[in-house]
Amino acid sequence: MEENFYEFYEVGDMNELPPGERLYLELDDNPIVIFNIDGEFFAIDDVCTHDNGPLGDGELNGHHITCPRHGARFDIQTGKVLSLPAMKDINTYPIRVVEGKLEIGVSKKG
Ligand code: FES
Repeated sequence: MEENFYEFYEVGDMNELPPGERLYLELDDNPIVIFNIDGEFFAIDDVCTHDNGPLGDGELNGHHITCPRHGARFDIQTGKVLSLPAMKDINTYPIRVVEGKLEIGVSKKG
């Protein structure tokens, strides 16, 4: 991760997102979900690229999430689409922990 390419925003205390939990938030009107999987944090758009379903509510199997609407699967580490009916990858965001606070990285524009 090249930190110079990202602007980081604090989104909460890491203790509020224990392993196995999800945190839903909006950033610039974009719904995003952050997962804690065994102490590692991953963030993706909470919008399926197939038909804009709420992807973050989907079932997780390891790092793979299944869209609750029509079953497309994605890897939340890379954003790669793994199965139809979606054909486009999802956005992922870097997460870092600074003094116990979770921060999400958003690409700097321009
Ligand atoms: S909206 Fe996600 S698979 Fe259709």
